[in-house]
Amino acid sequence: MLRLSLEKTEVLSERIASQTEDHALYGGVVPEIAARAHVERLDGLIRLAMKDAGIGFGDLSGVAATAGPGLIGGVMAGLATAKAIALARGIPLVAVNHLEGHALSPRLADDVSFPYLLLLVSGGHCQFVSVEGVGKYRRLGSTIDDAAGEAFDKTAKLLGLSGQGGPAVEREAAKGDPDAVDLPRPLLDRPGLDMSFSGLKTAVRRAAEEMPLTDKRRADICAGFQAAVADILVVKSARAMELVTHIHNAPHTFVVAGGVAANKTLRARLEAEARRAGFRFFAPPLRWCTDNAAMIALAGAERLRLGVNDAMDTPARARWPLDEASAASAPIYGAGKKGAKA
Ligand code: KG4
Ligand code: ZN
Repeated sequence: MLRLSLEKTEVLSERIASQTEDHALYGGVVPEIAARAHVERLDGLIRLAMKDAGIGFGDLSGVAATAGPGLIGGVMAGLATAKAIALARGIPLVAVNHLEGHALSPRLADDVSFPYLLLLVSGGHCQFVSVEGVGKYRRLGSTIDDAAGEAFDKTAKLLGLSGQGGPAVEREAAKGDPDAVDLPRPLLDRPGLDMSFSGLKTAVRRAAEEMPLTDKRRADICAGFQAAVADILVVKSARAMELVTHIHNAPHTFVVAGGVAANKTLRARLEAEARRAGFRFFAPPLRWCTDNAAMIALAGAERLRLGVNDAMDTPARARWPLDEASAASAPIYGAGKKGAKA
């Protein structure tokens, strides 16, 4: 539950129902289980969040839900629930792009004003975006294959680490030597802001297959992998900051958001680079980096404030680029099984 006024943004309550346990047996997310878990838990979760905030349905002035991109079953369950509330209470519905939630997430915690440069790094996405206002996003560069979070998750799986991939790799990396295993930094020698992580993943697989895979070697691979991701993101961020300095005639704010932005080594490296470039740096608190409802509520409230809402037949979308114009003109990043998920 979120209250937005001209003076401040207040998160009145927030709840997360994690499904990690439900999927753990299967070694990855099972779409059918994810969809069912949404259907089963949403009602209770909403009730709890309202109780925490001390408000009832009659106090709501709008309802926001993610309408994509993502696993379609879960998105449909959430969107249908929001439609039901909107219809029953006669309040507006806002169908939010999940990526817009991440893009606006820094504004939950701080007075981050437009425009700002965003590095959005999550499990499904890795892109540089110039955030120029609510609904005004310009994609400047993107991964051409895997997302950074996906590479963290695959690395964890290859090394047999349990729990969510990113935090597990981060924990192991803290015990390892980042220079012990030589790993590539794909696309670093090429100009532009595009990134690539699939070659790094293959190199991690090869390193993991070399026996014996001792605890020390596992930690070294994690440290080397994390350092390689940090190098890629730092070099490309430096370039992105240079580019937006030209566009806006001055350095301004550099924001990193999305699940991977919860990684402390990465945050520190990106912050140092931003400082060097004369940018203000901001990363949301950890709980608002990984997926959360507060950022979707904020995006919905910001849209409502601008008079924007959505029709009851708005569909759930498995794919939905943040910058639709760029996605249409550079389709290698767009739809299709072979295209980047980003
Ligand atoms: O934003 P998010 O919660 O969900 C998506 O929209 O994808 O991001 C999840 C991704 C996962 O790949 C997860 O392993 C990664 O963020 N992640 C991390 C850390 N915490 C979560 N990656 C590196 N270090 C972390 N501490
Ligand atoms: Zn996300």
